[in-house]
Amino acid sequence: MKGKIKTIQIFSITIFSIAVIFLMFFIIRSSKKPVKQTETQSGKLILGFSQIGSESAWRTRNTQSIFEAAAENDIQILFDDAQQKQENQLKAIRSFIVYQVDVIAFVPIVEDGWDNVLLEAKDAGIPVILVDRQINADPSLYAGFLGENGLEEGRRAARFLVNKCRNMKDEVTIFEMSGTENSSVVRDRAKGFREVISEDPKFKIVHSEDGDFLRSRGKEIGDNLLTKVIIDKSVNSRNRLYYDGVLIDAVYSHNDSMTLGLLDSLDAHGMNTTGTIIISVDAEQKSIDALTKGRLNCVVECNPNLGPKLMELVKEIAAGRPIPRITYNNETVFTEDDDFSKYKPRGY
Ligand code: AHR
Repeated sequence: MKGKIKTIQIFSITIFSIAVIFLMFFIIRSSKKPVKQTETQSGKLILGFSQIGSESAWRTRNTQSIFEAAAENDIQILFDDAQQKQENQLKAIRSFIVYQVDVIAFVPIVEDGWDNVLLEAKDAGIPVILVDRQINADPSLYAGFLGENGLEEGRRAARFLVNKCRNMKDEVTIFEMSGTENSSVVRDRAKGFREVISEDPKFKIVHSEDGDFLRSRGKEIGDNLLTKVIIDKSVNSRNRLYYDGVLIDAVYSHNDSMTLGLLDSLDAHGMNTTGTIIISVDAEQKSIDALTKGRLNCVVECNPNLGPKLMELVKEIAAGRPIPRITYNNETVFTEDDDFSKYKPRGY
């Protein structure tokens, strides 16, 4: 009997020891940081990049610029197109974290709602760069911002208008077509514009409408305005726009896609725009062409070519060096007063 108990004891101790050894093996294995597959294969830096979508020619050029610069700098991109949805961007950023990319860059479609995912990136030790648009979040959650100065773009648009209307005594009525609601760029372009026109009470924004940066929405807005045209005997109403019975002196459009949509609508109605001052933002080739044909009066540049600078920042961060909190791209203004022969092809 004693012998039998001893055999059972020895058997139990052996089983227990084997179990402990297995457990230790698994604990040690799982505590090791997984090695990045791609990095070990190619030795390249890996950038996770979440783009909003392809709502405009500007956006398409922005994506191309980032791909071209990544190839030139031998940086591998994990790319995601969010199809205009913040939830898709959140998923993409989480997948970049799981993949353990070296740096994450993304274009925040709207300003709010990023804190949690950015905290997850921070906990995973992955630095984040904001591209093109800014966010409302604790600045410690991201390394820096690269893109346009939306405030200055709005101010530039307004300065053109103020100068153009300097001799007008009467009220100057403005119709605004703004881009994606709750995006930083819309907030800034609206704020900068208002800051400058508010210096003279004759400027009045009669209506502001969300066109979501889309050409189709610009056309829709134009169609709505044109179906409500009022025949005013004192002016050539065929070439004027009205909102709610009020004659519009100027249109301030937050991007070229919406402006081109408005021109589509005018064409479809057999109208021209000579009676209305039209100011747009982006400077796509098509809108520069419209400017040179006298269909627009001013185009404020928003430079989509962010790729080369972004790759510089990615390399700096990956090397453990700090990057500036804000890096603005160089931008200019094109107006009806320019010498058009000096214009170079825009490339987008
Ligand atoms: O955020 C930049 C804006 O987004 C550009 O002006 C517009 O064309 C784009 O869709």
